[in-house]
Amino acid sequence: MLSLDLSKASSFLPPDYLDSRLPALEKAASMLANHNGPGGDFTGWVFLPRDYDKQEFVRIQAAAEKIRRQSQVLVVIGIGGSYLGARAVIDLLRSPNYNLKKKDTPDIFFAGNGLSTDALLELISLIGDRDFSVNVISKSGTTTEPAVAFRIFKNLLEEKYGKQGARDRIYATTDKTRGALKGLADAEGYEEFVVPDEVGGRYSVLTAVGLLPIAAAGIDIVALMDGARQAMEELAAGGADNPAWQYAALRHALYCSGKKVEMLAAYEPAFRFFAEWWKQLYGESEGKEGKGLFPASLEYTADLHSMGQYIQEGERILCETVVSFAPRGEVLIPHDPDNVDGLNFLAGKPLSFVAEKAMRGVILAHVDGGVPNVLIQMPSISEKSAGYLIYFFEYVCGLSGYLLEVNPFNQPGVEAYKSNMFALLGKPGYEDKQAELEARL
Ligand code: PA5
Repeated sequence: MLSLDLSKASSFLPPDYLDSRLPALEKAASMLANHNGPGGDFTGWVFLPRDYDKQEFVRIQAAAEKIRRQSQVLVVIGIGGSYLGARAVIDLLRSPNYNLKKKDTPDIFFAGNGLSTDALLELISLIGDRDFSVNVISKSGTTTEPAVAFRIFKNLLEEKYGKQGARDRIYATTDKTRGALKGLADAEGYEEFVVPDEVGGRYSVLTAVGLLPIAAAGIDIVALMDGARQAMEELAAGGADNPAWQYAALRHALYCSGKKVEMLAAYEPAFRFFAEWWKQLYGESEGKEGKGLFPASLEYTADLHSMGQYIQEGERILCETVVSFAPRGEVLIPHDPDNVDGLNFLAGKPLSFVAEKAMRGVILAHVDGGVPNVLIQMPSISEKSAGYLIYFFEYVCGLSGYLLEVNPFNQPGVEAYKSNMFALLGKPGYEDKQAELEARL
């Protein structure tokens, strides 16, 4: 399913970069499989494509069907790992223009991933008088942004449909036993879905967190899970031939050689939010203890005309991973008898031919500019290829975190801004910190 070409990156490294890391990879793979490495309590995603809760899966499909029947709009409330996966998959499989399309599934809007008043007002006016449902997603159940947004949309639903009607349109995805959202959902009687204890936010796209909105968008979640399961099975057999081991070793070797930024580039605009999901996955998993490649993303060829100069000649701290999909159709470049634009040498050729040559030319140029390049080639975009790629990146990320000797499954740094914000907002319990921070403002 996935073809990995490391030849334009490994040439920057000593020949033994993979062999020298095989013992560490062996250990990393074993810690992931046995859930006994740092953060092992959060490695439930490793076998999730096989071991997911089948009964809940059926409930997810039924809820998605009900949402499609009942509502023209679904508002998905969540932040970070509680929204990026769903948005990534819906954009990739159904298009970033999904909401503009004529379709028999609801428009899907994402809320609670920021604190912009303008964005919220715009969303409310976009919903207008249409019927809507809400899927509120928070593992902790206490994250401020989604909690505030949920309060607002819950009020709107109750005003429109009454308390009972609102209840029938709210789906809460949260912890099985703990947290404010769990308490609220129990008290109000919302339909509930579970973020499994052993799966962290950024690894949760293949749980109800991602699957309910994805299914509501009409995407075949059985095929998505199948793709992920195929990746899980193929990558489980370790060794020097395993593409996940190869890629993790290469990323680590590039980092040790002085590269500081990994750019994920694709030629598909639909991939933009997949790259956002990838950035969170790698940034939160590796960026700690003063370590980690900084994950950045690029959309080609557009960004070649904005970032291309820096990539080619700026600070040599960059490495690049390009993801390429086979096209789902074909557009032929027409012949023009006047040929004023001089493009007849391309007449009759598919646009994908131009894209392929552009990609190859860019890779060679970047390599010549000192930017190691990895190429991941996928079949055309589909539920199966998306599921495969999700699992591949998750697995490489787990291996990479262990090679870096960090706990890839915590995110202690995220708390710093939260506690400052709580203090400045005057949340009870933060009085001392509030005084200290206000004195510094
Ligand atoms: O990956 C993570 O764990 C985080 O990015 C969380 O997903 C994010 O902070 C949202 O947290 P919660 O789902 O608890 O509201």
